[in-house]
Amino acid sequence: MEAKRESWGSRIGFIMAVAGSAIGLANIWRFPYIVGKNGGAAFIILYLIFLMIIGFPVFISEMLIGRATHTSPSGAFKKLGKTKIWSWMGKLTILTGFIVSSFYSAVAGWILGYLVEAVRGNLSSFESCDAVSSHYQCLMNSAIWGVGFHFLFMFFCVFVLYMGVRNGIERANKWMMPMLYMMLILLAIRGVTLPNASEGLHFLFTPNWSLITPVAIVTALGQAFFTLSLGQGTMVTYGSYLSDKENILGNCFPVAIMDTVVSLLAAIAVLTIVFSTGMEPTAGPGLLFNTLPWVFSQLPGGYLLAIAFFLLVVMAAITSEVSAMEPTIAYLMDEWGWKRHPATFACGAGAFLLGIPSALSLSLLKDMTFYDMTFLDIVGSLCSDILIPLGGLLAVILVGWVWKMSNAFDELKKGAEHIFEKHTWLKHYLWVSVKYTAPILIIIVFLNALGVLA
Ligand code: PHE
Repeated sequence: MEAKRESWGSRIGFIMAVAGSAIGLANIWRFPYIVGKNGGAAFIILYLIFLMIIGFPVFISEMLIGRATHTSPSGAFKKLGKTKIWSWMGKLTILTGFIVSSFYSAVAGWILGYLVEAVRGNLSSFESCDAVSSHYQCLMNSAIWGVGFHFLFMFFCVFVLYMGVRNGIERANKWMMPMLYMMLILLAIRGVTLPNASEGLHFLFTPNWSLITPVAIVTALGQAFFTLSLGQGTMVTYGSYLSDKENILGNCFPVAIMDTVVSLLAAIAVLTIVFSTGMEPTAGPGLLFNTLPWVFSQLPGGYLLAIAFFLLVVMAAITSEVSAMEPTIAYLMDEWGWKRHPATFACGAGAFLLGIPSALSLSLLKDMTFYDMTFLDIVGSLCSDILIPLGGLLAVILVGWVWKMSNAFDELKKGAEHIFEKHTWLKHYLWVSVKYTAPILIIIVFLNALGVLA
């Protein structure tokens, strides 16, 4: 006898879980920096356009694939694509999610380690910039520290996943997402009320069109994909737990808005706080592990600010990490007939092991490079430059060309007739973007990133 497949307990639980997946390191860590670096408001406009004409249509397509089939991405792609090849494509997206979950946990482990440092008061009492960076070096050089916190972070995520869709994923998100919003709003308010906040806002919002280069365009597209957790089976899997009565469009639209608002709020908080002490934001680990701790050391109330900030990032990372692991777990359950508990352990153990070289990429393995790239750089760019856009492309091709738009609309209209009656343009917008705009643009950007278009 087959056990009944799991499903979401409530509409709000679903929305929170999808938002929890979307809102993660890409919003809080990456967005503030890339906006400032790539043209401020000009980049934000470009990013919003990509979100509208590519991100959102792919997002809806993936949800539809999941909801129409109620199975993991491998079975889902096969059911709609009707050939074995599509089942392999589905498996590829699951593999992408699995790889993402391995390095995401390694990176989130460092942040968890920094949260512990913040609680111990070590992040708000630096006497000089040099002291911050030697503290950073000291932590990062310890393999045990990196791998240990990678393990601990994975342990938390496995715990959430072990409890199942409703009692684990949904419940964790229902708790953590509101806390995350509250903390972020408080941090943004603190940021804009600091002296020199205007400099941060200036860095963020002044449009500089000359910085919109091909690199900025690829960055904007990559961000739109990664932030909505697309191209890696996550949204297909989350959609597969959604009941047929639910209205996909009405549930997904608020998530896309929330995700964007969080990115903007995070950018406001981080940049005003950084500029208030006359610092400049840096990219990558430098921002979180060097710049911010130094800033917290100089600000009144820095101890609490540091805790709030790192706790916020850890929570955002947990809710995203579980969503990157869930497709693999769903696959083991749906296709191999495993129970949730062994499937969760297997996925957790596998992702932990694969994540170890990433966790060591700034320490033990920092000199083990290939074309100047560490292991973490390699898996990161393999996923974000190749596998993720490919996964998104496959989803829109499957929906727009193989399953066919008319069938997709029948599915999309479930629970949403009133929206389509009221906004007739929606149908045209989705038709054109899923079938043409999104695939064509993804292919162009893809070829460009691979250096085919010079
Ligand atoms: N959307 C997450 C973020 O913004 C990343 C993520 C990607 C999570 C894929 C799950 C799956 O950080």
